[in-house]
Parts: sequence; structure tokens; C-alpha cells
Amino acid sequence: MQRFEAYLSRNLPKVSTFHPVYEEALGAMLQAGGKRFRPMLLLGIVDAYEPMLYDSALPVALALEMFHTYSLIHDDLPAMDNADLRRGHQTLHKRFDEVTAILAGDALNSDAFLLIAQAPLREDVKIELIRLLAANGGSAGMVLGQAIDCWFENKPLTLDEVKILHINKTAKLIAASLAMGAVIVRLEKAVQNRLYDFGIDLGLLFQIQDDIIDETQSEEEAGKTTGNDGEKNSFVTLLGLEASIAEADALAKTLQEQFETFDTPLQKALRPLMETYLYRHH
Ligand code: IPE
Ligand code: IPE
Ligand code: MG
Ligand code: MG
Ligand code: MG
Repeated sequence: MQRFEAYLSRNLPKVSTFHPVYEEALGAMLQAGGKRFRPMLLLGIVDAYEPMLYDSALPVALALEMFHTYSLIHDDLPAMDNADLRRGHQTLHKRFDEVTAILAGDALNSDAFLLIAQAPLREDVKIELIRLLAANGGSAGMVLGQAIDCWFENKPLTLDEVKILHINKTAKLIAASLAMGAVIVRLEKAVQNRLYDFGIDLGLLFQIQDDIIDETQSEEEAGKTTGNDGEKNSFVTLLGLEASIAEADALAKTLQEQFETFDTPLQKALRPLMETYLYRHH
């Protein structure tokens, strides 16, 4: 974690330009913090199997965080969730303006792929990493989830449809984080797929928890605008708080059981993350 934060600080987007706030806007939300859940998943796998590759994996971990941060900057825009607070700070469009926030998001999206392309890893590995990030973040992944999320405001979906929404907007990038770690250390394809599938369930849980947090936490506790899902198809708007917590608990238990079947180095590397996040909604 410390190595990742140090790497991030040293590798914030640097662009020399006479634009007065451009560079600051690109780095602001990355520097503001956050749980760093996706990079930690990737680096956990690398640490478990090939710690020698840890430094080479840092740009890929940062790429994931950049891509995720782009999705948050756009998620907060007035046209989407219209939120004022993110990672304990004013959202970019509040601090600067909408144009600056839109463009900072665009830039982080592209720069994520640049970071992977330039990483000191095998070319075939990098192509697979780029493929995974694009396939799970783009038109059939995060973007699709966000499109469904916003299109169906005030239009109730079924529980199965909300699961599809959550899997796309959140779980696929989390699953990709695990799969990308597996690709870097060249775990066999069957193991990559198993980690990806685990990541889908983990990501679904993560978004159900996020829906619970929107209902139960203050802005100060969450560091972001909360109480903001009233018009959304969230688990809480669909099922209510208690049933959402029951659903999260059941999913967390299933994940715990799956996790116990992982091999020892992987359990050792990911255990702190699982302990922190499986029951974070309590
Ligand atoms: C928030 O993501 C949006 C979701 C996909 C649930 P995180 O909860 O990972 O936000 P940060 O990175 O910690 O700020
Ligand atoms: C956003 O989901 C998921 C993304 C792809 C960014 P939310 O809209 O629930 O995330 P928060 O609650 O604003 O962090
Ligand atoms: Mg949203
Ligand atoms: Mg939001
Ligand atoms: Mg939310």
C-alpha cells in the first residue's frame, strides 16, 4: 500500500502547459485518496506469486486506479449523480468547472492505457492487460452499467436487472483487477477465470455495500455525497435496508467459503483485504 501510494505520488499526470489548472485537475482526485481497492487486489496477487514483479506491476495498478478515478469524476457530474463531495474533497466540477471535470476524466481514461503500454512487462502480457481493462471498463462493462444506472432513474428494474446493472458498473472492473494480477504472474487460464468469477461476486457485494452506505453513512463518514440514491435502482431502494444487509451478509459468507478454497499464498496475500471489506457494511 505504501509502495503504491509513493508510486502514485511520483507518477501523477505531468503536462507542461500554460493552462492554469489543467495539471492540478488531472491529479487532484487521484491524490485525494480512496480505498485503492482495485490496485490492492492486483498487487495482492502479484505479491503472492511473483513478488519480484511487484515494481513492474505498479504502473498497471496505477492504471486501474486512474481508470476507476475517471469513472468517479464522471459519475459525480451534474448530468449523472450530481454530487458535490468525493474522497473527502469537493468534486472536480465544483472545484473547477464541468468542462475541466469531463476532460480530466477523459484524460485519465486514455492515460490508463498509456501506463500499461509503457510498463516493463512482456508485450503479450500487456496486450492481455489492455484487453481486460477495455473489455471490462468499456462499452460492455462499466460504461454499460453507468448507462443503465442513469437511464432507469425513477424506472424500477427487477432484482435480476439490478444485479446486471451492478455487475457491469462495478463488479467487472473489480474482477478485471484480479484477472490482471493473474495475467501478470501468468497463472494458468483456468485459475484466471476462477479469480475473475470470484471478482464478479466480490464486486457485486462491493456495490450492494455501497448502496447500503449511501443510506446509512453521513457525508463525513463516507467522504462522498450520500443519501443520493433515491431515484436510483439501488439494492436499498429495491429491497429496503434490512433485506439489503441480509443479501450482503449471505453473499459475503459465500465469498468467504470460496476464499477458503484458494491456495495458501493467495489466501495469505488477500486475507487483509477480505477481512476489511467482506463485512464493511456493518
Ligand atoms: C465507489 O468506488 C464507486 C463504486 C464503484 C462502488 P470505491 O468505493 O472503490 O471508491 P474509492 O476508490 O474508495 O474512492
Ligand atoms: C458508481 O456507482 C459506479 C461507478 C462506475 C463510478 P455509485 O454512483 O453508487 O458510486 P458512488 O456512490 O457515487 O461512489
Ligand atoms: Mg452513480
Ligand atoms: Mg454516484
Ligand atoms: Mg453509491
